[in-house]
Amino acid sequence: MNSHIIIDNKIKNFNKKIRASSDKSISIRSILLASQAVGITKITNLLESEDVLNALKIIKKLGIKYKKNQKTYKIFGYGLNGFNLKNNLTVNAGNSGTLARLILGLLVKSKFKVKLIGDKSLSKRDFSRVIKPLKLFGANIKSEKNLLPVEILGTDYLRPILYDENIGSAQVKSCLILAALNTPGVTVINSKVSRNHTELMLKSLKYPISIKKKKNLDIITVKGLSQFKAFDYDVPGDISSAAFFIVLTLLSKKSKIVIENVNVNKSRLGVITILNRMGARIKLKNKKKYKGEVIANIHVSSKKNLKSINCPSNLNSSAIDEFLIIFLVAARARGKSKFKDLGEMNKKESKRLDLSVKFLKLIGIKVERFKNDINIYGNPNLTLSGNYEIKNYLKDHRIFFLSCIAALTLGGKWKINDKDSINTSNPSFLKTLKTIGAKFN
Ligand code: S3P
Repeated sequence: MNSHIIIDNKIKNFNKKIRASSDKSISIRSILLASQAVGITKITNLLESEDVLNALKIIKKLGIKYKKNQKTYKIFGYGLNGFNLKNNLTVNAGNSGTLARLILGLLVKSKFKVKLIGDKSLSKRDFSRVIKPLKLFGANIKSEKNLLPVEILGTDYLRPILYDENIGSAQVKSCLILAALNTPGVTVINSKVSRNHTELMLKSLKYPISIKKKKNLDIITVKGLSQFKAFDYDVPGDISSAAFFIVLTLLSKKSKIVIENVNVNKSRLGVITILNRMGARIKLKNKKKYKGEVIANIHVSSKKNLKSINCPSNLNSSAIDEFLIIFLVAARARGKSKFKDLGEMNKKESKRLDLSVKFLKLIGIKVERFKNDINIYGNPNLTLSGNYEIKNYLKDHRIFFLSCIAALTLGGKWKINDKDSINTSNPSFLKTLKTIGAKFN
């Protein structure tokens, strides 16, 4: 189905309080860890998006029951490797790289072969980053050209590994931590810093995992085969979803927003750091701790006179999903913004770096591209009046969100295809836009 929306009005000034949708990374992790816990885990405010529902479907297919009771999901775990497998199962991770990579980690001890598939976008993504280290644990993995379908058959003879994770990928790191849970002995991962929700969740469960900081490295030590009990988890809001509303407010006139109850874990805060360096005055208020995570309300006001940034690449990992929308701010900032080493963007749901360049050119912005670096020549007076159509982006949810925010802040008449892509990460995106005052068909 090729659904689309038409936007041909900028949003009028607003002053609103909203809730961001629940965190996708944490929702998926809470389900996967619940599937390995002993007893009944209760999760509230689980994100009910396709990526997360696919995680529930996968654990169900692997023999783990779950029930939804009013707002609470109950997951019935039988402990580590407590899956009840049949021969030749196929599981489908849909659009989710996180789910696909993490579930492979949990299958290193599977008694039967499991085949992992995904949608068109996921089928173009590279799995060598997890296949290579999982083979070191001893798992049997087959795939052609490191693409899906990937077949995994676990082993009872797992061995712990010492691995340098130097991409800065939380998906790879988390996959290896999950594999280490079922592996006897001590696994050590020297990981370039990336989002640390898996580590924090395991720590809150008193699992024997330790993290030592060393410059830009986290040295993660996981002792395998320690059972842990079922738990309760209340999922906070997702800063990656909040980011689009932050930029909507920044680039609108005389507007304000408060986004409540968002996870502002430092390893996800790149977008706030970068936008504040560009002159925004985004504030985090009412901070509280929850199971190692930090939750806060995000306060944003419109900002004229944003300035360009020379973005240090050590912020890349903590803003990896937000660069699309950060580039839109750079397009409206005074001066030339520079971003470096963003090759990972091209390994996401679509080739986001390539598509960003195309998008910026479409809205009349000068861009220079040198391999994985880009320079954006901002125009503080940028307003649009032409017709714009956004299509052929592999239904990447974040390209859809970006296009809506561009249309609502810059003007012009926009046809944005593949509206259904919002169901990947934020099914209530359009409803929330409407409550803020956006008009579209
Ligand atoms: C995620 C990690 C990031 C991010 C993705 C979610 C996670 O991917 O882009 O949307 O939940 O671990 P990488 O870890 O591969 O950079």
